[in-house]
Amino acid sequence: MATAAAPRTDRTPADGAPGATADTAAHQHAFDTAVAAEERIEPRDWMPDAYRATLVRQIAQHAHSEIIGMQPEANWITRAPSLRRKAILMAKVQDEAGHGLYLYSAAETLGTSREELLDKLHSGRQKYSSIFNYPTLTWADVGAIGWLVDGAAITNQVPLCRCSYGPYARAMVRICKEESFHQRQGYELLLALSQGTPEQHAMAQDAVDRWWWPSLMMFGPPDDSSQHSAQSMEWKIKRHSNDELRQRFVDIAVPQAESLGLTLPDPDLKWNEERGHHDFGAIDWTEFKEVLKGNGPCNEQRITQRRRAHDEGAWVREAAAAHAAKHAGSTGWTGATRA
Ligand SMILES: [Fe+2]
Ligand SMILES: [Fe+2]
Repeated sequence: MATAAAPRTDRTPADGAPGATADTAAHQHAFDTAVAAEERIEPRDWMPDAYRATLVRQIAQHAHSEIIGMQPEANWITRAPSLRRKAILMAKVQDEAGHGLYLYSAAETLGTSREELLDKLHSGRQKYSSIFNYPTLTWADVGAIGWLVDGAAITNQVPLCRCSYGPYARAMVRICKEESFHQRQGYELLLALSQGTPEQHAMAQDAVDRWWWPSLMMFGPPDDSSQHSAQSMEWKIKRHSNDELRQRFVDIAVPQAESLGLTLPDPDLKWNEERGHHDFGAIDWTEFKEVLKGNGPCNEQRITQRRRAHDEGAWVREAAAAHAAKHAGSTGWTGATRA
């Protein structure tokens, strides 16, 4: 396995060496062999342009989802029903900011700056997960997001810990540990409501009714219409298809819903003995496409809030850059500063 400290020389072209293109076939071969052997590709290794572009697109979308995902839950921090719940929710929302930072850093190892990625998010040229364009109407939504949305995220992200690109895989190991805590806090919150007063139980059921289908959409389009899947599987960025992961999530969620004393809003949901999996109803992909196009209930609000937060944080970035420049002057360090 390649390490950051000692990149494999057989996959590392001499920087700017003339004739580097003549070596492309050899580099491609070394890359293919490394991927086939389950070795990690590291930032200084040669990689195909399309592999790099795919990773930047995926990691950026993932990073954007982490920081936009802070908004629907932060909406409830001031109204959490107890100090304990408030402390847990604040920790969770802070974790999501941290996930965004790990991921923007992973994208930077591919030669893309954070400013560029944020600019693409703010101008709508890059997407974030469509799930965060739904509103959090009641306190129970915090539980439903933790249980279902973080639960779906874990199902998607655990296989990414074995992604062929080293920095992304290592970021995912840490993120997945924190996502498990998020999922458990959501489950525990819903359990308390489900076993509470009839009104609390109804509130929990209503939240699950609204978040179930959007959670299933988080796995992306069905395999037969997923444009990037096959190549990503070949590169071992992705390990399982969208439909496989969606099925895994449904199979895990059904017994958990039973333990919660809540129902899932799908009359077609039933165990299929022959397949060894749960069958479930058809997903409304028209809704998914509309939300993706920007027509979800909160698209406008989320991006406006994100731009405002970015503008209001300008002084922090300027102060950090000034501090770094001063530090560079006193030590001779000339590392780039982040505006
Ligand atoms: Fe996260
Ligand atoms: Fe999370």
